[in-house]
Amino acid sequence: MPDQTRVLLWTDTPGPYIDAIAHAGLSARVVVEALARKDAPTQAQRADTEVMLAWGAPRGLLPAMPKLRWAQALTAGVEGWLALSDLPVHLTLTCARGTHRDSMPENIVGALFHLTKPYAAVVQDQAEHKWTRRMAQPLNGKTLGILGLGAVGQEVARLASALRMRVIGTKRRPEAIAGVEQVFPPGRTTEVLAQSDFVLLLLPATPDTENFINTKTLSQMKPSANLLNFGRGHLVADADLVAAVKDKRIAGAILDVFREEPLPPEHPFWATEGIIVLPHIGGGHPTRDAIVALLFVENLGRFLDGKPLKEVVDRNAGY
Ligand code: GLV
Repeated sequence: MPDQTRVLLWTDTPGPYIDAIAHAGLSARVVVEALARKDAPTQAQRADTEVMLAWGAPRGLLPAMPKLRWAQALTAGVEGWLALSDLPVHLTLTCARGTHRDSMPENIVGALFHLTKPYAAVVQDQAEHKWTRRMAQPLNGKTLGILGLGAVGQEVARLASALRMRVIGTKRRPEAIAGVEQVFPPGRTTEVLAQSDFVLLLLPATPDTENFINTKTLSQMKPSANLLNFGRGHLVADADLVAAVKDKRIAGAILDVFREEPLPPEHPFWATEGIIVLPHIGGGHPTRDAIVALLFVENLGRFLDGKPLKEVVDRNAGY
């Protein structure tokens, strides 16, 4: 059929996307090819693909795909795409914003529990057959400051307020949010840093947010506060954080994202007491592809019908 749209699924798990395309009744309107993540698109795929679902693209690829009109990123953060000096001007880029809404908030609440409950120490005690009474700290009444109240931040706020935490935060365009006592504009971040027992970073990686956590902003936090970074490694000046934790200018940090991943074995984060390194576990879960697939097929239907797509990346804003 000449009017079928050529779709390339550049992922190791194309199944949920193929199923979703069929379920949405779009199969007859597209020709779908899957490509393993380790492989590069073939000459024919470069020449013919009009729609691509992918984790990213190496420099040089996108300009060599003359028919490509829309790329759906599998990630919520798209700084890698936006850093491409040859990202075609007319390519529509959509991101997987919102698809971490299920797992990431739970992992963040898990981090809050880890910081306040003694389970890790108890497991250690058990290994030594040692009965040690340990005291858990309540989250109830503590202040959680969420920097970046997007889809994930709003869900964290809902869960944290159910735990009777006081939640405040920042949002580029402030609006009332359920469970959040006060939503500040980014210009008033200092107030959030100063009031919070836990500072949660969920900001996107843009030129404006590079090294956002540095010696100055760390000095604006309470010495008893913990930092949680589930946004991007780029938000934190690594050496400044290590120094602040070592000098007890803040209590500690749980980090799920890093400038370089995997975190190199010699990085000081590994060995700094008070810093916990998570191997970027925040958003993933066994059925995440099915969630991204819902967004993808909704967009595919819109694309085929010539309608505006959802979660289009604002290249100026950087997310
Ligand atoms: C994960 O880090 C994402 O941006 O989706």
